[in-house]
Amino acid sequence: MSRNPIVAIDGPAGAGKSTVTRAFAKKLGLLYLDTGAMYRAVTWLIIKKGIDLKDDEGLSQSLKELNLEFKVSQLEEQNVFLNGKNITKEIRSPEITEKVPLVASKSIVRKILTIQQKALGKDGGLVAEGRDIGTTVFPDAELKVFLTASPKERAKRRSIDLKNKGFTVPNLLDLEKQIKERDQIDSSRKIAPLLKSEEAIELVTDGMSIEEVIDSLVKMFRLEIPEEVWPTPIL
Ligand code: CDP
Ligand code: CDP
Repeated sequence: MSRNPIVAIDGPAGAGKSTVTRAFAKKLGLLYLDTGAMYRAVTWLIIKKGIDLKDDEGLSQSLKELNLEFKVSQLEEQNVFLNGKNITKEIRSPEITEKVPLVASKSIVRKILTIQQKALGKDGGLVAEGRDIGTTVFPDAELKVFLTASPKERAKRRSIDLKNKGFTVPNLLDLEKQIKERDQIDSSRKIAPLLKSEEAIELVTDGMSIEEVIDSLVKMFRLEIPEEVWPTPIL
C-alpha cells in the first residue's frame, strides 16, 4: 500500500508559505512542519550563547548539547521548545530573521536539522515548508510546489505582518531590499540552496488571496496524488 502522501512547499521569504501551508494542512488533516522555525531556533541559541559562527568546533559542540523539540501539529502555530523553553515567539524577531540565513548556510547545522526533519516525516501524511524540502529533505514527496511572489508584493505582505506582530516596520523599499538580500544568500549557498526542483509546480501568488492559494493547492493535490491515499477531509 502507498504511504500517506508528503507535500513539499518551498519558496522565498514572504511568499506565504507558513500561512498557506498551515491552513492547507489543516484542511486536509495532514501534519504541518515549518522547517524555517527550526533554523530560527538554532539561530536563537547561537545568539544567546554568543557562539562565533566561524568557530566550527564550538558550533559543533553546542549543537550536540541542543535538545530541540518541535511539536508537529495541525494547530495554529508550530510550537518550538529548546532545552525545555518555549521560544515560539522569540524566534520571529527581526534580529533572528536577519541572522538566520548565515546560520542556515553552515553545513553542520543543515545536517542535524535535515536528519530531524526526515525523522518527523518518516510515516508520511505531512505538509512541510522551507527552502530545500522538495530537493533535499523529502526528494520523494508526492507533490512539490514552488510558491513565490514578486519582491514588491512580498515586502508589502511582510510589512503588514511585522505591524500585526508589534515589531518596528522599516519602509517598503528597505524591506524589499532586505528580502532580496535574503533571497540572494538562500539561493547562492553551497549546500541545499533555495531553488525550484524540476518536478515542482510553480505558483506565483501576486494578487492572489490566501484562500485562492489554498484552493489552488487543493486542486494540485487532487490532480497529482492518487485518490486511494487522499485524506478523509477531501474525499
Ligand atoms: O518565514 P520566512 O520566509 O521569513 O522564513 P523562514 O521560513 O522562517 O526561514 C528563515 C530562514 O531559514 C530562511 O531565510 C533560510 O535562510 C532558512 N531556511 C533554510 O535554509 N532551509 C529551510 N528548509 C527553511 C529555512
Ligand atoms: O512563510 P513565508 O515567509 O513564505 O510567508 P508568510 O509569513 O506565510 O506570509 C507573509 C504574509 O503575507 C502573511 O502576513 C500573510 O498573511 C500574507 N499573505 C497574503 O497576504 N496573501 C497571500 N496570498 C499569502 C500570504
